[in-house]
Amino acid sequence: MSGLTGDVLAWGVPRLRDLPWRHTRDPWAVLVSEVMLQQTQVGRVIPRWEAFLERFPTPEACAAAPLGDVLREWQGLGYPRRARNLHATAQQVVELGGFPRDLAGLLALPGIGQYTARAVMAFAFELDAAVVDTNIARVYARVAGERLTPKRVQAIADEYCPSGDAWVWNQCLMDLGAVLCRPRDPACDACPIRARCSWAGDVDRPDP
Ligand code: ADE
Repeated sequence: MSGLTGDVLAWGVPRLRDLPWRHTRDPWAVLVSEVMLQQTQVGRVIPRWEAFLERFPTPEACAAAPLGDVLREWQGLGYPRRARNLHATAQQVVELGGFPRDLAGLLALPGIGQYTARAVMAFAFELDAAVVDTNIARVYARVAGERLTPKRVQAIADEYCPSGDAWVWNQCLMDLGAVLCRPRDPACDACPIRARCSWAGDVDRPDP
């Protein structure tokens, strides 16, 4: 485990935010949380995630419902394409007899891209997959001190992801990005990887 990985885990594990989707390993519940969180803030997602899963607790329940019911349950969250894709994914998962557990299988589902596929692998199946969302990409770009292509940042993320600990690693890194390494006014003073970061403390410097 590299120094950076150990430092992030030592900071993050005792402070891990208590979010409801962190208490489940059910791939359907994890997928719904990640799809909602793509464009909606954590605080707004919590009650809507709970309500959605109460209405559609399984892919089977969602697949069997008319699309209109799923869209109605989604109302107010915006980007209704996400609800259409969830409904289509639920139908495919039922046809397949369950969720795929590998990257290619997950990427083949409607609306599931590189981020969401790895999030389901890491957060539901606890497989070794490194997720890269905008927060995590910003952390790596600041550490590196340079602009990184999506391919490069995924390769760096894959390198740091500790084998066997992808679940907690990705959650800690998300918390670091959201709580400390904010887009504006980052809390570099409190950051466990400050000494390893090219950008730390130089808060007037533009992002790479
Ligand atoms: N944003 C996207 N996925 C998240 C997660 N699992 N926890 C907190 N914020 C997130």
